[in-house]
Amino acid sequence: MEEMIRILLVDDEDSFRGTVSKRLSRRSIDVLTAADGREALELLDRDPVEVVVTDVKMPGMDGIELLRQIKENYPDIEVILLTGHVAASDGVEGIKGGAFDYLTKPVELEHLVSKIRQAGEKIRWRRDQRKEAEFRKRMEQQMMITERLAALGTMATGVAHEINNPLAIIRESAGWMRLILGKEEMAAVPRRSDLELALNKIEIGVERAKRITHQLLGFVQKDDALSAEVDLPMLIEESLGMVKREAVHKGIEIVRDIQPLEKPVYSDPYQIRQVLLNLITNAVHATGGGGRITVVLKSVQGGVLIQIRDTGEGIPPEHMRKIFEPFFTTKCPGKGTGLGLFVTRGIIDRLGGTIEAESRPGEGSVFTVTLPRRHEIRKNDIASELNTC
Ligand SMILES: Nc1ncnc2c1ncn2[C@@H]1O[C@H](COP(=O)(O)OP(=O)(O)OP(=O)(O)O)[C@@H](O)[C@H]1O
Ligand SMILES: [Mg+2]
Repeated sequence: MEEMIRILLVDDEDSFRGTVSKRLSRRSIDVLTAADGREALELLDRDPVEVVVTDVKMPGMDGIELLRQIKENYPDIEVILLTGHVAASDGVEGIKGGAFDYLTKPVELEHLVSKIRQAGEKIRWRRDQRKEAEFRKRMEQQMMITERLAALGTMATGVAHEINNPLAIIRESAGWMRLILGKEEMAAVPRRSDLELALNKIEIGVERAKRITHQLLGFVQKDDALSAEVDLPMLIEESLGMVKREAVHKGIEIVRDIQPLEKPVYSDPYQIRQVLLNLITNAVHATGGGGRITVVLKSVQGGVLIQIRDTGEGIPPEHMRKIFEPFFTTKCPGKGTGLGLFVTRGIIDRLGGTIEAESRPGEGSVFTVTLPRRHEIRKNDIASELNTC
């Protein structure tokens, strides 16, 4: 069965249009007709075709001018010119102007059919090439993003590791200073309250830095990633428990749609807990009073699906691409690290799962995680690099 092709036949001779279109229709060619160039252009505006077959010699706009206008406005359409015997030079001019080919009248039907088919093949080939180029471009962009994220991740986790020790020293020293400052003999120290204020600031700063390193290192220190039977409903409850106070305070309703799992899941419960906590915390932060957070757990082909839905503020489309990048946050300075989703995605990738985000600004967001029923323990490259000495 030959592929259907749609053409426009333009000729000022009624009988020619009538007979040729009737005969072409019998050959899986869908034919529209026009009596002159102007009518042809009007038709193309409303009704796209793949190939135009046009007479060159027509009153008003001739075929060469029609070809020019088609190439200008519809570059994907292929044009076949029909020239008179004595005017074959028109055909040559047409080819220069971008025509697919020209045939001299009187036209032999088989010849015309074969030219139309060749033009159709050229169009389809060009379409395939374009699709392939687009696909390749998308893949390259995706790879660039993945590589960039991986590089950023390696750097960020390396920095976190290096900062952890000096941070512990600062924290310990601040505690020691506070202890000394609290002693009786220090009661008369000048500007004591200023010193206390400075210590407070140091401690708040250290806490914030610790949150950052904790997130990042939680993500890499699992060189010995576990693969144990995971009690997902319990982990969900635990994570909900950790945000309960804030949720109650904001008047957020928590809905559980937890279905019994068909088969147990073997994975790393500690890392899954961190994923759940990050996603549920984000949902609570994004949802205002009277909102709702729904946690779904169910079996799917090959594993489980966990979904955290909220009726919160949503994520604007221009942020969607960035939310998994490290340090991207819309929270006030000092409130969010912007590492939650980055770490979450890293964990899910390593556990062999997937994570997807969907959102409608003003309506809410949905984060969907899938985990395989059993995850292969993979040595954590970053962690092993960091732990070599
Ligand atoms: N459920 C959600 N609803 C609306 N926006 C969200 C949601 N989850 C994430 N976001 C957006 O993605 C950004 C990045 O999230 P991520 O968890 O990585 O960092 P954070 O929440 O800002 O900081 P932290 O996790 O340290 O508290 C958030 O600042 C927010 O803009
Ligand atoms: Mg977060």
